[in-house]
Amino acid sequence: PPRDCLKTVKMRILWLLLLFLDEARSRAAPKPNFVLLMADDLGIGDPGCYGNKTLRTPNIDRLARGGVKLTQHLAAAPLCTPSRAAFLTGRYHVRSGMASQNQVGVFIFSASSGGLPPTEITFAKLLKSQGYATALIGKWHLGTHCHNSSDFCHHPLSHGFDYFHGLPLTNLRDCKPGQGSVFSRALGLLALVPLQAIALALLTLGGLRLLGLCRVPAAALGALLVLAALILGLLLCFLHYFRPLNCFLMRNRDISQQPMSYDNLTRRLTADAARFIQRNAETPFLLILSFLHVHTALFSSKDFAGKSQHGVYGDSAEEMDWSVGQILDVLDELKLANNTLVYFSSDQGAHVEEVTATGEVHGGSNGIYKGGKATNWEGGIRVPGIVRWPGVIQAGLEIDEPTSNMDLFPTVANLAGAPLPEDRVIDGRDLMPLLLGQSQRSDHEFLFHYCNFYLNAVRWHPRNSTSIWKAFFFTPKFSPEGANGCFDTHVCFCHGHSVTHHDPPLLFDISRDPREREPLTPTSEPRFREILEVMQQAAARHAKTLRDVPDQLSPGNIIWKPWLQMCCSWSGLSCQCDRENEDGSGSR
Ligand SMILES: *[C@@H]1O[C@H](CO)[C@@H](O)[C@H](O)[C@H]1NC(C)=O
Ligand SMILES: *[C@@H]1O[C@H](CO)[C@@H](O)[C@H](O)[C@H]1NC(C)=O
Ligand SMILES: *[C@@H]1O[C@H](CO)[C@@H](O)[C@H](O)[C@H]1NC(C)=O
Ligand SMILES: *[C@@H]1O[C@H](CO)[C@@H](O)[C@H](O)[C@H]1NC(C)=O
Ligand SMILES: *[C@@H]1O[C@H](CO)[C@@H](O)[C@H](O)[C@H]1NC(C)=O
Repeated sequence: PPRDCLKTVKMRILWLLLLFLDEARSRAAPKPNFVLLMADDLGIGDPGCYGNKTLRTPNIDRLARGGVKLTQHLAAAPLCTPSRAAFLTGRYHVRSGMASQNQVGVFIFSASSGGLPPTEITFAKLLKSQGYATALIGKWHLGTHCHNSSDFCHHPLSHGFDYFHGLPLTNLRDCKPGQGSVFSRALGLLALVPLQAIALALLTLGGLRLLGLCRVPAAALGALLVLAALILGLLLCFLHYFRPLNCFLMRNRDISQQPMSYDNLTRRLTADAARFIQRNAETPFLLILSFLHVHTALFSSKDFAGKSQHGVYGDSAEEMDWSVGQILDVLDELKLANNTLVYFSSDQGAHVEEVTATGEVHGGSNGIYKGGKATNWEGGIRVPGIVRWPGVIQAGLEIDEPTSNMDLFPTVANLAGAPLPEDRVIDGRDLMPLLLGQSQRSDHEFLFHYCNFYLNAVRWHPRNSTSIWKAFFFTPKFSPEGANGCFDTHVCFCHGHSVTHHDPPLLFDISRDPREREPLTPTSEPRFREILEVMQQAAARHAKTLRDVPDQLSPGNIIWKPWLQMCCSWSGLSCQCDRENEDGSGSR
């Protein structure tokens, strides 16, 4: 019958039209690539584009000129491990158990059992399922094993990355001979104090015995000596073995260099990142280049050593900037720039307490902001944030709305066409409406600033006002008094005697007082109580969304577990090997 025939023809036309539209759409908007550059401990006062006139960062500045500069970009946490967990999962780190309830907020041994739980979903995992090639090059710091040294349950390859080359732990002072130890305080308490006590006891008892004042058995003196030797031996062992056991590079699941060598290290990792881009020029890819710079131990290669105006810190920062430039150049050469979203940020603010015994400053600048790494003062969490996507995002824009490093999760997932997981809370917000100028307001009305496990402060950007209220429930006790950090302990802690609690909370309007100098009072801010009330209610609502999860940074999960230790080959009573070939042949 003619009617049916007409219907079929109509259907065919419709179908062809749809096919055509689909084809046109996929041709017009191929999936973008993502290059996410993450610095370690770089302060917002360091890059030239954020106002530094003496530290030279021409490549980061070039990136900013071609994209959007976020001026209120916030790390989800002021420490590496929790901040990176939140970045990759788009969720506050308390949701994944990467929130310490003791003083140590990060992993300090490669052979501990804590880490990013396999049940967490990183945006790398989402992109991999969309056909992306995914790589993480550089620092990981989110754990390696759970139960045995071959499960790799926390390793990048279990979290959506096809390729990993870098440091499973973090760059520490102890990784570089001659730069001192981050453990000096703890070791002092654990070893030097008992050693001194034993020495004192030996002297007293020995003296008494010599003078014949009392009969001290020689065996007792011997036992004390043995104990002292044991403690000293353990101390020396720790210092001797720390480096090979914790500072090594891996390529995928294999150790590639143990202990890692700082020679040409940035050059090697950068070249590998460039090769990854070249290999995947024809497929959509996600590359996270997670710099070892500018965390201590500071290092730089021959071309940068001694060249900056800011000592070894400046050299390290300028070498990192060079690396950024290399990556941008590769994107240009391969004509990938217009189809690649590039992001640059830092996992937290500069570590202001990094000053050596000789007074050399090894920490960066947080600009006008108070405090630094390990605190939720603006200096600890307000980090550089640059997003560039030529032809899509308008160049040269500056956005002062509050954004978070957790926002990369939904942003990247949406652009890649990956549906967001529906079985869990995602705290990040898609940045695109803001970056495209479709929205003038950040989607974050409230942000919660955690210090490890503890809710430290709430930020409220009311939808109908320009104010940015920030209320602190506690603040770290700076030491010595009047200093801009916890210099006596080298790092600020989050609970107990290390903090001062505030009731009512300490309230600031960051939009008017970005330096957090003048806490508001009911007299200076008539709506004081009302504002705090709203923020406390928001905190209570947020608390209701939290679940009890295993603590990945519990003492049992951060201690060294010999059976989880990776060692490429035992030689001369130490782990040693070097399979880092600079040309990277054989790597994927
Ligand atoms: C390591 O643990 C995994 C998961 O628990 C298990 O499947 C595997 O057999 C274990 N390997 C060894 C060598 O014990
Ligand atoms: C570092 O790289 C340069 C240039 O490739 C090379 O000449 C030099 O030998 C390398 N140095 C070391 C210690 O590997
Ligand atoms: C630039 O960076 C260096 C190194 O962090 C720092 O010492 C200096 O104070 C910074 N300058 C400004 C204006 O922030
Ligand atoms: C990339 O995008 C910019 C801005 O739209 C445009 O000027 C340039 O010609 C594009 N480059 C290529 C290689 O398409
Ligand atoms: C903003 O809205 C809240 C209620 O939603 C209201 O109490 C407050 O007065 C408003 N503020 C301004 C500046 O309009």
